[in-house]
Formats: sequence, C-alpha cells, structure tokens
Amino acid sequence: MLAKNILISKDISADLGEFLDQGKYSQIGVLVDENTLIHCYPQITPGMPDHGIIEIPSGEVHKNLGTCQGIWDELTQASYDRNSLLINLGGGVIGDMGGFSGAAYKRGIDFINIPTTLLAQVDASIGGKLGVDYKNFKNHIGFFKDPVRVLVNTGFLNTLDPREIRSGFAEVIKHLLIIDPDGWSKLETLDLEEMDWEKIVPHSIELKYSIVRKDPTEKGLRKILNFGHTIGHALESHFLNGSKPILHGEAIAAGMVAEAYLSRKKVGLPEQELEDIKTNINRIFPQLDVKEEDQESIISNTVQDKKNRKGSIYFSLIERIGKAVFDVEVSKSEIKEALDFYLKG
Ligand SMILES: NC(=O)c1ccc[n+]([C@@H]2O[C@H](COP(=O)([O-])OP(=O)(O)OC[C@H]3O[C@@H](n4cnc5c(N)ncnc54)[C@H](O)[C@@H]3O)[C@@H](O)[C@H]2O)c1
Ligand SMILES: [Zn+2]
Repeated sequence: MLAKNILISKDISADLGEFLDQGKYSQIGVLVDENTLIHCYPQITPGMPDHGIIEIPSGEVHKNLGTCQGIWDELTQASYDRNSLLINLGGGVIGDMGGFSGAAYKRGIDFINIPTTLLAQVDASIGGKLGVDYKNFKNHIGFFKDPVRVLVNTGFLNTLDPREIRSGFAEVIKHLLIIDPDGWSKLETLDLEEMDWEKIVPHSIELKYSIVRKDPTEKGLRKILNFGHTIGHALESHFLNGSKPILHGEAIAAGMVAEAYLSRKKVGLPEQELEDIKTNINRIFPQLDVKEEDQESIISNTVQDKKNRKGSIYFSLIERIGKAVFDVEVSKSEIKEALDFYLKG
C-alpha cells in the first residue's frame, strides 16, 4: 500500500491537471534544470494553468545554499505568496533542493515532486527528506517535509542517460538487499537494458515506503535505508571535490560492497552472500579509482555521517540478504579493511 500523496501515474499531464484544477494555488512555479526543461517539461504542460519557470543548472555541485538563494530570489521577485505551489520537475537534486527551498520560503509553501530519474523515482522523492550539501558534506543542511503529491511516471526514463539509469539501480539493489531477499535472488538473471521499469519502479517504491511509514523521521528502523551510504557518501564527497565527480548511485554501489564486508565481520553475513553481493554489484558497476593516499581522508569523511553520535561511527548493516540491522558501531580500522576489500575487486 502506498501513501495517499504518492501516485504512479500513467498520464502525467492529466493527473497533474486534475490536481491543479482544484484551483487552490495563487501562483505556480516549475523548478527545472536545463535537461528536464527540454526532456520533461513538455510532457507536463498540456492542461497546466499559467505558471512560471525557474531554471537552475543541473548537477550535484549546484545542490547548495547558493542555488537556493537564486530560487528564493526568483520567488520573491515574482511575488510568490504563501499560497503558491512549487513543482519540482527533475532528479534527486531538484527534488531535495526544490523541496528544501519551498519548505523554507515564507516558512513553507506546498510543493509537488515529479521525479524524472530512476533514482528519484524509487528513492529520493519518497519519504520527505529535503536538503542541500554544505561545504564538503552531503545533505548536511535540511529537514523532513512531505510533498503534497509525488507523481511518478516511468516514461520520463526514456530520455535518461544509461549511466544515470545504472546509478538509480543502486538504490533498487539496496532495497532488495535490506528487505527483499526473493527480489535479490532474481537479480542475477537481469540485464539493465531489459528491465521492466513499470514493474520495478512501483515495487521499489513500495519497499521504501514500507520502511519510512513506520519511522518517518529516522529515529530507528528507517536507518536501514542507509545501508551502503556511510562509506558511499564518504566516497561521493571525496570525488565531488576532485576533477572527476561520480554519481550518487555509483558511490553507493561501492559503499554496499564495502559495507557487506563489514556485515560479514560484525553481524555474521554468510560468506557466500558476501561473495554474491560483490559479484553482482561488480558485474553492473565499474570499480572506482581510489588512490592509496586518499584513503585516510575518505575514512575521515565517514565521521561526519548523520548517524554518528559522540564521535563513534554507526553503520546500518545486513545480517543476511533481506535482513538489515542498524546502529552497529564500527572502528576506523575496520572501515579501512572494508575499503581495502572493495578495492581488491
Ligand atoms: N531525499 C532522499 O531521500 C534521497 C535519496 C537518495 C538520493 N538523494 C539525492 O538525490 C540526488 C541524486 O539524484 P539523481 O541521481 O536523480 O541526480 P540528478 O538530479 O543530478 O539528475 C541526474 C541528471 O539527469 C538529468 N535528468 C533528469 N531527468 C532526466 C530525464 N528524464 N531525461 C534526461 N535527463 C534527465 C538531470 O538534469 C541531471 O543532469 C543526490 O543529491 C542524492 O543525495 C536523496
Ligand atoms: Zn542513496
């Protein structure tokens, strides 16, 4: 069962039009980047009332307070009031940052998410986490607030770069590893180019929603969704600062292999399952190029993780495929071992 605000839409402009026909908004703004303006915006406009467009540059490097200021400037200059609506049309960057900007503007206007990447459809648009990166740290500033609607249409994926599809697939894998062992066992026979997104996307959303509805603000259970993300985010931040940034899902895929190693060591993940995870993920994702001399700073990055308390580092791990646990304390030397395990390939 899905939340009332999430709709798997077969006809995005009709469903959006129907919602907007309720006519309760004084002004409507659509937040896009240069790619979603070209590829996605034309699909939502039939049937839309008058609205403004706010365009920001694409990419994680722009997911920061500076870009939010630009959004707030545009809303202010066009006199958006508190009864306005912001429609976030894009991937996780637009969703996280547009939601954050909308939820903060004049203490909060309504916003809709229309996720247009695989990653945003199965993960980022579900569960109300909003935010931006700050200095070198991912999603460091933000809060929880749900969009009034999430409209999901897999047709948007037709124009998405295959590398972005693969990135989003890391989160699909994560959902299987933490709560769906049967789904995982079918994975070996699957080829990314032959995926049936109309089935996979709603299923993955259901898996995520089944967790967040029990713990919306991540006091406990929801932490299991961070499997792969402690080391993954540390890798992502590291590469974000360098000349060759990597995609979120690429970092998380590597993080899941490293954290599967920690799962073996700390909570008894069977050896065979560890090998199975590593083989399958390495089949889909190329190995990241982490230099020996950079390892120390990557390990230090994990200390900033939001799950940590009083300087100790806590992980969400898996005891078996499909059975996750959270709040497992891990030492820096064990994190180093886990990175080494990943880098051995
Ligand atoms: N809030 C959450 O719970 C949550 C969960 C997971 C990830 N995230 C965040 O999501 C972000 C990553 O999201 P992402 O992978 O969607 O990246 P993204 O938003 O940067 O989008 C990837 C690229 O695809 C382009 N694009 C988007 N839709 C397109 C389409 N239909 N056709 C062609 N091009 C299109 C974008 O312009 C961009 O260049 C990260 O910042 C991550 O932290 C948030
Ligand atoms: Zn993620």
